[in-house]
Amino acid sequence: MHGSHTHSHGDVGRFDEWASSYERHWMQRLVFEPIQKTLLDVAASQVSHPGSILDVGCGTGKLLRATSGRFPQARLEGVDAAPRMVQTAIHLLAPGSSIHIQEATAEALPFADGQFDLVFSTMTFHHWADQAKGVSEVARVLAPGGRWLLCDFVGRGIVRRVTQLFRLHRFFDRGRLDALLAQNRLVVVAERPSGWLGRSVPVLAIGKAASPTR
Ligand SMILES: C[S@@+](CC[C@H](N)C(=O)[O-])C[C@H]1O[C@@H](n2cnc3c(N)ncnc32)[C@H](O)[C@@H]1O
Repeated sequence: MHGSHTHSHGDVGRFDEWASSYERHWMQRLVFEPIQKTLLDVAASQVSHPGSILDVGCGTGKLLRATSGRFPQARLEGVDAAPRMVQTAIHLLAPGSSIHIQEATAEALPFADGQFDLVFSTMTFHHWADQAKGVSEVARVLAPGGRWLLCDFVGRGIVRRVTQLFRLHRFFDRGRLDALLAQNRLVVVAERPSGWLGRSVPVLAIGKAASPTR
């Protein structure tokens, strides 16, 4: 079974409480919108005609709604661990929208192997209860030649101070992330700073590493 039943982390409860006002929060304009715009630019430069896109930790689905304007031909799927985020996301979809959003965790993605040309994760990775499992699940559902676009805090510069201030946790440093990726035969193939947040919150384009030559 997927969803909060397999996932008892406290962050998910906080997101449930936040769901109804999430899209009106000041952080949308200041933080999330610049990130999402950069991510869609990177997506278009990495995979020009994606057939299928998954947003893991999609929150209220804002990025997926923007994605449908950018890639109208793509199948769009979203999952989030917080039931009320999922309810709000579904409520905010335009009538007749083909975007499909369901409750599930990054650690147990309800999809068959190799389905997605693009997988997005914006500002969610540091909340995942089991980041190693989440990375292996993303690697599993990524199609050959696909890209995982991961945008989150990296412990550099001002981000260190912000994370201390808000007592945020599970922020990764690049060395630890690169090691986790390598365990799943993934590698960062491109990196772009996101808006004014710069290199502290980069969009990383991650692909399958080339198989070792015999
Ligand atoms: C800061 S919000 C970001 C939402 C969205 N990606 C955005 O950019 O607006 C983090 C989201 O990650 C979700 N989340 C936390 N842990 C998760 C997990 N293990 N699997 C899936 N979603 C998770 C939360 O419920 C929340 O909706």
